[in-house]
Amino acid sequence: MSSQNIYILAIESSCDDTSAAILCNDTVLSNIVANQKIHEEFGGVVPELASRAHQQNIVPVVHQALKKANIRKEQLHAIAFTRGPGLMGSLLVGTSFAKSFAYGLNIPLIDVNHMQAHILAHFITEEGFKKPTFPFLGMTISGGHTQIVKVESYFNMEVIGETIDDAVGEAYDKSGKILGLGYPAGPEIDKRAQLGNPKAFQFTKPKVEGLNFSFSGFKTAVLYFIQKEVKMNPNFIAENLNDICASIQYTIIGILIDKLKTATKETGITQIAIGGGVSANSGIRKALKDGEHKFGWTTYVPKFEYTTDNAAMIGIVGYLKYLESDFSKNNVMASSRLKI
Ligand code: KG4
Ligand code: ZN
Repeated sequence: MSSQNIYILAIESSCDDTSAAILCNDTVLSNIVANQKIHEEFGGVVPELASRAHQQNIVPVVHQALKKANIRKEQLHAIAFTRGPGLMGSLLVGTSFAKSFAYGLNIPLIDVNHMQAHILAHFITEEGFKKPTFPFLGMTISGGHTQIVKVESYFNMEVIGETIDDAVGEAYDKSGKILGLGYPAGPEIDKRAQLGNPKAFQFTKPKVEGLNFSFSGFKTAVLYFIQKEVKMNPNFIAENLNDICASIQYTIIGILIDKLKTATKETGITQIAIGGGVSANSGIRKALKDGEHKFGWTTYVPKFEYTTDNAAMIGIVGYLKYLESDFSKNNVMASSRLKI
């Protein structure tokens, strides 16, 4: 391994956040994220608008990342970028930018799988955060993903369970929409859940074989339940909002924890590392801590800024690939359905 400091510029543009980061080896010097507010009024990400916003944001975001890290572009050793999965129009912006910048600077280009990056974000060196040891189970839960991955080493990963329809974050956001909450609704449902009774209302858990998930039926169950209650009492939502949120959260966390219990039993692996926007949820955090006492799990939750979509996680994968000289060809293409 080289004793030289390796500086990597990383770019993430797979969904609705434009992000650029500078890493020095496995340490983050800057991690700039430009959120796109435009989608709020539509209650979900509009791909064409996301792509246009990335085009506007990418140059200032990269500029800011370099400035904050106090690094000149000539000092960079490589450029890492998200190749996929994600929205094609969004991925193309980051991919084209990274390609041309690397070509212009005559430095290596490194393509990164976004789903691997959510998991390998745990290997960013950060004070107060422990890194998992191999093998471990990675669970990525966000607005776009719900996956359990068996991780044997940095680049030897196997998806052992994933959603067959909606992602867990979508279950939160769609339930929130039914309740008249803003987008994204996850944080507000979480806040209200902590003030309500989780057993006030019962929602049946979907029955999905093995380690896969399904959340679309759950959202429909919430919809029918609310429609029925509102018919009898038009003020039902306002009068019971905290209890409804607590009951929704209780059911969703139950689904996630049940699958983790099965996964640990099937694999014999009891180290669990979570990532993705939903890992900010107070209920999942508490349930994982409980699992440490009840089931002997060791659990890892990364620093918040590395759980939601961000370029620092792309940068750590870039660094690990740099050490193996695993570079991309300049004709590499974005891939919206890239698999782990
Ligand atoms: O990782 P992320 O920022 O973006 C992607 O979807 O890739 O995740 C956003 C998702 C949204 O669905 C949002 O509602 C959810 O994460 N979320 C939460 C919480 N904070 C964010 N869901 C439940 N509880 C939270 N505290
Ligand atoms: Zn993501």
